[in-house]
Amino acid sequence: MQRADAAQRIAELREQIHHHDYRYYVEARPEVSDAEYDRLMRELRELEAAFPDLVTDDSPTQRVGGAPTDLFRPVEHRVAMLSLDNATSADDLREFEARLGRALPGTRFTYVCEPKIDGLGVALLYERGRFVRGATRGDGRVGEDITGNLRTIRSIPMVLRGALAAVPDLEVRGEVFMPRAEFARLNRQLEDAGEATFANPRNAAAGAVRQKDPAVTARRPLDIFLYHVSRADALGFASYRETLAALREAGLRTNPRAEPCATLDAVVAYCEALERARDELGYDADGVVVKADALEHQRRLGSTTHHPRWAIAFKFAARQATTVVQAIEVNVGKTGALTPVAKLEPVELAGVVIRNVSLHNEDEVRRKDVRVGDTVLIERAGDVIPYVVQVVAAKRPPGTEPFRFPAHCPACGGRALRPEGEAYWRCSNSACPAQLKERLRHFGSRGAMDIEHLGEGAVEQLVDKGLVHDVADLYTLGVDTVAGLERFAEKSAANLVAAIAASRARGLARLLNALGIRLVGERVAQLLAARFGSLERIAAASEAELAEAHGVGPEIARSVVAFFADATNRRLVDRLRAAGVVTQAPEAPRVPQVLAGRTLVLTGTLPTLSREAARELIERHGGRVAASVSRKTDYVVVGEAPGSKAEDARRLGVTMLDEAGLLALVRQA
Ligand code: IVH
Repeated sequence: MQRADAAQRIAELREQIHHHDYRYYVEARPEVSDAEYDRLMRELRELEAAFPDLVTDDSPTQRVGGAPTDLFRPVEHRVAMLSLDNATSADDLREFEARLGRALPGTRFTYVCEPKIDGLGVALLYERGRFVRGATRGDGRVGEDITGNLRTIRSIPMVLRGALAAVPDLEVRGEVFMPRAEFARLNRQLEDAGEATFANPRNAAAGAVRQKDPAVTARRPLDIFLYHVSRADALGFASYRETLAALREAGLRTNPRAEPCATLDAVVAYCEALERARDELGYDADGVVVKADALEHQRRLGSTTHHPRWAIAFKFAARQATTVVQAIEVNVGKTGALTPVAKLEPVELAGVVIRNVSLHNEDEVRRKDVRVGDTVLIERAGDVIPYVVQVVAAKRPPGTEPFRFPAHCPACGGRALRPEGEAYWRCSNSACPAQLKERLRHFGSRGAMDIEHLGEGAVEQLVDKGLVHDVADLYTLGVDTVAGLERFAEKSAANLVAAIAASRARGLARLLNALGIRLVGERVAQLLAARFGSLERIAAASEAELAEAHGVGPEIARSVVAFFADATNRRLVDRLRAAGVVTQAPEAPRVPQVLAGRTLVLTGTLPTLSREAARELIERHGGRVAASVSRKTDYVVVGEAPGSKAEDARRLGVTMLDEAGLLALVRQA
């Protein structure tokens, strides 16, 4: 690149970054994802490295953040609150160690790793063990005094214990965050109250911390992990490990997952393991902070103006990204539900290229006001299907129109109706081929009748050629008919027919799922099958009888009754039975319902039972497995390497069991 071009690009990047810093640090309302911001910053750093004479004092690479707002009293940090250098791969981590080695030749480094909390950095000041002031990070040099708000956080002690209580002037730093469960609860409350919800726990925590009325903050359940003592070496500690132990002893909360790592290989293993476990943490972590353990090493390595040289942040694959909505299409589901889907400019997210994202239903599109041409923030967390967090309002181009739901089914042209009180528009044509194709696909899918070779192409042709009018017709297909389809030979046709025949014996639970009854998926189907034993008994059951089964609410019961009240469905079931499809569940011995009405939570790895097996055991005995611990939890079953749920249990005084304890409990009858 020519110098003149570089100068221009550098100016552009600085302007963009300044703007995003303002949105992020001052207003706490970011409009780009962290990944996109990091990309801008990386490009700027690279250009400045290539043209060092273009570096100026006011470049975002030369300072820490943006200006603080004047809502709260400004506080000058005694020691600047720096940022962290980033690593995104094991190679980057090795390069970090190589850098340490070059700076301090001949030194053997050991490390401490801990989750990088996606929250808000704060500095707490204790004078002779008393909490006197708390401040936000601000631009790193000057933050805001939020003492009153921080006081409302229960895990911040007002008075310290132990050795640190005697220190005249102690500054500790940490990260304030909102646990995911609390975040979900808060958003539900806001939604019920008709107020705007938060896009993620970080924004919710930022909003809470910057409330002008501490009483409001107090109602927003925040938490904190502490991870730094300014001038710890002056206090006589030799290592970060000792510092953490002293913090804990003082009554300050530190991350229970902080772990010493003797080698860089151990560091890499820690980073990989935590990335896999990130969904079980109970709070958002966007990476791992790796710190050289010896304070002597930290002191000698020192800091740049931007970050300490003795630490690095290993960043997990980004889960949020921004991209542009190119079109909004409407898909037809197996029950005729019309689902709006945003077609996106392809974007990589957590290792997968995302091209489509469901917008669920009309109300959802309206609530988020997603329009063609909009830039949207999308997120993909763990196994969760990607979704639109929000529209980036500032990037909306002129002339966009609110999305309008089509009046006709896009597949068959049938009239689209939205029944009173329902969220979905539906295609009113029961012969709609798009619906039938979806039903067939679902019928043959892995969790349903598991029909191998019943692929996309076969389904399309069977419907379009009029060979199949409902799922029972599958069992009438002969090899000759199938062999007549495109891309089918004698052999592959025989395979498909054999696979269809084999599916007859899948049993009641899979058949129930395969029928595509509204609200009856894999799990509900298993519950119903276990409880009633045959399709005939389920078809004959009343709403009240169905709703009695645990995990089957009144809404599901109503849907099951409605399905079997429909003459077409009854005929379909008769024809499936006539075709030899098994409608019974294999006999399961009835076990005493000793856990009836009890709620259990599982955490960590159990010695012999898998997560699924433990769940199955609990449910077979009438218990329920919940995802998070609350006061209503009866037992928490704790295994190896438990998550924060074990801590929650301790905090709430919930009884904890190990696997042996659980087994003893179900055998006690
Ligand atoms: S150590 C000088 N440890 O990440 C101490 N920081 O991107 C350097 N952060 O400003 C920070 N979790 O607000 C450290 N376990 C952790 C952290 C952590 C989150 C934040 C912190 C820092 C930012 C840098």
